[in-house]
Amino acid sequence: MILKTVPDVTFKTRVRDESIEGPNPFRWEEKTSADYFAGKRVVLFSLPGAFTPTCSTYQLPDFEKLFDEFKEQGIDAIYCISVNDAFVMNAWGKSQNVDKVGLIPDGSGEFTRKMGMLVRKDNLGFGLRSWRYAAIINDGAIEKMFVEEGFSDNCETDPYGASSPQNILEALKAGDESVAA
Ligand code: BEZ
Repeated sequence: MILKTVPDVTFKTRVRDESIEGPNPFRWEEKTSADYFAGKRVVLFSLPGAFTPTCSTYQLPDFEKLFDEFKEQGIDAIYCISVNDAFVMNAWGKSQNVDKVGLIPDGSGEFTRKMGMLVRKDNLGFGLRSWRYAAIINDGAIEKMFVEEGFSDNCETDPYGASSPQNILEALKAGDESVAA
């Protein structure tokens, strides 16, 4: 089934709250798909795991570096989603000095499953995770998907190219008719 809109999901995030005393001034905050996607044209990229090498060395930092170029192409926000909980996603964002890319914790994998992108990574001891993909999403409607080749459970390789920021920018700049705003 090819989805036309992103699934309606509630995400459990952790946000800083200065009114909380002590060493851990964070509280839970629920955010919905509408909070992230309504009324905006965004790039979402989804990866197999926070702190993993390709994601930490290339994909996340490159989206961060190229953020302004995406803005010039009419993209309002860039989100990175992973089947990791809010504590892990926040720690990863902090370790990467992420400021422009928003991190979305899909800890239970509900969004990823409903996108049809949940795969087994038991071969790495990861359990259920996201296949690597990206999408251009306009007001919740999926304009175009960039899915890495070889979608499969327990894949022995980690294809990376289609969902790179460079590839998506190229498509946006080329005015690829399927991604024209
Ligand atoms: C990587 O990003 O390099 C990676 C992702 C998943 C499993 C192993 C490595």
